[in-house]
Formats: sequence, C-alpha cells, structure tokens
Amino acid sequence: MTSVARPLIAPSILAADFSRLGEEVAAVAKAGADWIHLDVMDGHFVPNISFGPQVVKALRPHTTLPFDVHLMIEPADPYLEAFAKAGADNILIHIEAGPHAHRSLQHIRALGAKPGIVLCPATPPEAVSELMDVVDIILVMTVNPGFGGQKFLTSQLSKISRLRDMITRSGRDIRLAVDGGIDATTAPLAVKAGADVLIAGSAIYAHADYAAAIAALKPQSAE
Ligand code: DX5
Ligand code: ZN
Repeated sequence: MTSVARPLIAPSILAADFSRLGEEVAAVAKAGADWIHLDVMDGHFVPNISFGPQVVKALRPHTTLPFDVHLMIEPADPYLEAFAKAGADNILIHIEAGPHAHRSLQHIRALGAKPGIVLCPATPPEAVSELMDVVDIILVMTVNPGFGGQKFLTSQLSKISRLRDMITRSGRDIRLAVDGGIDATTAPLAVKAGADVLIAGSAIYAHADYAAAIAALKPQSAE
C-alpha cells in the first residue's frame, strides 16, 4: 500500500447555495480548493436531478480551477461533447452506466478532456483492470451516488488500497479520487488507503469558513 503526499481537495457544489453558484465556486477557489467537482444527475441512473451543461458553462468564467465533471447519467455518450464544450476539464463516467466504457473514455480524450471512470460501492476494483491505459482518474464512490450528506462507507477502503496497487503496477499517472462522506475524520482514512483526490460537499459548504474546512481535510501527517 502506498500513501500519497498532499491530496487535492475538490469541493462538490452539490452542497453549495444554488441561488448563487458563481459566488460559491469563486469562494472555494479563494479558500484553497484544487478542483471544482460538479455532480450531474439525471433522475434515471441516480434518483436525483441536479444540472446539465448549461450550468457548467455558466460557471466556467468564475474560476480558472479545473472542472471535475461527475456524470451520473445513463446514457452518457450523447452528452460528452456538450460537457467538453461547456468547459469540463475532467469528465468522469460510471462503469455501471455502460455499455462501452472503453469507447466512451477514448471519446472523452479525443474531445480534449481527461477521462475518468467511477465505481459504485457494489463494483469491484478489478472492473477497471482493462481500462488502465485509457483513464487519467479513477473515482471510488464511498456512498451510493445520488445525494450529498451520506455516511462514508468504510467497506470501500480496501477497494481504494487495491486500486492504488493496480495504479502503481500500471506505471501510469492516474489520480485516485474518493467521493462521498469525506470529512476531517474520514479524509485521513482515504488518504492512508491511497486516495490522492478528496471530493467533499457538505464538509466544506455546510461550514461557515470554507478555508478552515478545506484545511481540515488535509491530513496533518501529509506533505
Ligand atoms: C454524490 C455525489 C457527491 C456528493 C458528495 O452522488 O457524487 O459528489 O456531492 O457529498 P458529501 O461530501 O456531502 O457526501
Ligand atoms: Zn460526485
């Protein structure tokens, strides 16, 4: 098991004030965020609806930070170009949303974005073993996707460790992200298991002081 130095922090705007999203994005950027995480939900792949490419486009001028766009939609293929054009830097699709993840990931790269694959809690790490050459990001869901504010599933820690080993063996520069229930208590567990991107919604946006909330997610032992 390899633990990684300083993890990147990616606030999820799902927990932000939707009536002033532009300001909310700029505020976490100023507070030390590394990426902005945007959760796209279709009410079909997941039981919730959030926003689409128009919102991504509208937010783009509010920060220069990379936009990490998490597509919880099925199918994803018809919308990849729209999200790339809207300003997504990373486009992540769910392996469970099929049907041809390898092709979709190649398409994302051809559109000029970084391809990422997401695994729900029920999906084993080996599901991505044949995708290691076409992904730049692997995202482990530590809750079932669809809602913010859920409890971190500690059962996913061994999956994170196994994926870290797979990434090391691949020899490729692949980011390993975690999403769901990340707070000051669970962040160090995820980092110790091998995660190097921490996505957090409520732990940042429900906090009055975004800079303090972001700092609290960076494990003291890191660096
Ligand atoms: C859940 C989303 C997450 C969510 C995380 O489906 O993918 O990004 O916003 O929210 P918290 O950090 O509150 O669990
Ligand atoms: Zn997400």
